[in-house]
Amino acid sequence: MAEVVILPSAAEAGELAARAIAALVATTPDAVLGLATGSTPLTTWRALAAQALDLSRVRGFALDEYVGLPEGHPESYRAVIAREVAEPLGLTPALVRVPGDGGGALSGAGARYENDIIAAGGVDLQILGIGRTGHIGFNEPGSSLASLTRVKTLAEQTRIDNSRFFPSIDDVPTHCITQGLGTILRARHLVLLAFGSGKAAAVASALEGPVSASTPGSVVQLHPKVTVIVDEAAAADL
Ligand code: GLP
Repeated sequence: MAEVVILPSAAEAGELAARAIAALVATTPDAVLGLATGSTPLTTWRALAAQALDLSRVRGFALDEYVGLPEGHPESYRAVIAREVAEPLGLTPALVRVPGDGGGALSGAGARYENDIIAAGGVDLQILGIGRTGHIGFNEPGSSLASLTRVKTLAEQTRIDNSRFFPSIDDVPTHCITQGLGTILRARHLVLLAFGSGKAAAVASALEGPVSASTPGSVVQLHPKVTVIVDEAAAADL
């Protein structure tokens, strides 16, 4: 059963999530953190950066990445994670990984990423947002509950939602590489964040609907240690 915390604002939610990360790092300075992009975790990164902790030994594994963007594209998740997470938090760039990084054929990239997460000892704490389609990472509806890191097609709704970061919808990649639902479930602690009324339906079906591939976020119900931190608007349908 997930612990659900409803707070008045995204800022307060970010502070609570940041406290959970800070507590982990206090006991485990080389903790493995599951990093998420998107607007949702920004208050967490901001609150954590404000604590000015030494996070230089923390190892990070991002959830997902676009496929097909040119190297160094500012909207690639490698660039976004560097700009919005690694730099403000003082993570060591060499310790931050993104699916598909490090070269090599894309066909083997999923298995390599899985192996690297395992070699790091697994993810201690995974930060998660949720998409309006109910996706976590880029696991769109229909994703296998046991899936591991692999290349996927993006749902049209997700491309539309993410087109705000690109000049036009035609510039949004059609494919991605994402940790699978099975990968995410292996993390020892999941912290799922959601804010705003646009997420209310996805939050309700993830937490209270059937565990089903049609709502990928519902897999959190299978995990023994989940903290859900939402604002009142995102909690409206609970
Ligand atoms: C994106 C990311 C997800 C993220 C979600 C919500 O497409 N791949 O990891 O959780 O959609 O994004 P946001 O937090 O901006 O609403």
